[in-house]
Amino acid sequence: MPQFNDTELTAAVVQSFEETPDPRVKFLMEELVKSLHEFVRKSDLSFDEWSYAIDFLTKVGQKCSPSRQEFILLSDVLGVSMLVDAVNHRDRAGATETTVLGPFYVGEHKPMPHGTDIAPNLTGERMFVQARVTDLAGKPLAGVPVDVWHADDDGNYDTQRPGYEAEGPSMRARFATDADGRLYFRTILPCSYPIPTDGPVGQMILQTRRHPNRPAHIHFLVAAAGHEPLVTHVFIEGDKYLDSDVVFGVKNDLISKVERRTDKVMPDGKAADAPWHLMTYEFRLKPGAGVAPKPMMPVTEAA
Ligand code: BEZ
Ligand code: FE
Repeated sequence: MPQFNDTELTAAVVQSFEETPDPRVKFLMEELVKSLHEFVRKSDLSFDEWSYAIDFLTKVGQKCSPSRQEFILLSDVLGVSMLVDAVNHRDRAGATETTVLGPFYVGEHKPMPHGTDIAPNLTGERMFVQARVTDLAGKPLAGVPVDVWHADDDGNYDTQRPGYEAEGPSMRARFATDADGRLYFRTILPCSYPIPTDGPVGQMILQTRRHPNRPAHIHFLVAAAGHEPLVTHVFIEGDKYLDSDVVFGVKNDLISKVERRTDKVMPDGKAADAPWHLMTYEFRLKPGAGVAPKPMMPVTEAA
């Protein structure tokens, strides 16, 4: 009957994965065990602390639902999401920078015509967003689906609003780029917002005296055939949380100088109630492959 001291125990558990058929799974399980054991050893983890951790992870799981992803939130605030992003995007070669997907890619992204107001019933300062999708040489990419989503001016995503079931999605849509690689839509100017603090992850942030805020941004997911899927945000210049994003997701290239405009028409020639804001951004995609994440609620294709 083997009896292990704490170091031999690690070797024995690593050895127990010896017959794992998939070499990558074998490697990941071995490395995970080594890192976990090292954490326990280094910190002299007490029974109470381990039981607290298990209780915490249980609560994280219990908070998840079809419209709430507390595990992604946990990964985000611990910097794991941005680290996974970094090791998978080491060489951008001029392509647009990537950032976290976040836990709110969960609603329905309905295909909409260019120019649509995706926040028609919401109060807030109006904004026109115009973007273009190109390859690394600046050649426009046509017919590319682009999913967009953002929070309202109280800092809530549609799926966090009590009326979501009845009202359906808002500040959330899918556009297909035109022949010149362009897309444009109307919405409201998003503001900075706290991540949800009504669950175990937000509670941990508050208990550790971190601030829970993210700088104002719009999410974009650009998925063109023959190119790496681009998961990113465009942040609004001047936001006070750009230097201290709770999920460490800001990159300089993703900050846009949103202009305050007083013209009586928007770029598509339609009337505007002044003042309004203009966000302009160009996405450059890297050739390659990959599978874009899917929203957790079904996407309705255009009829
Ligand atoms: C978001 O931008 O939607 C988000 C990202 C990470 C954590 C929480 C929210
Ligand atoms: Fe967000």
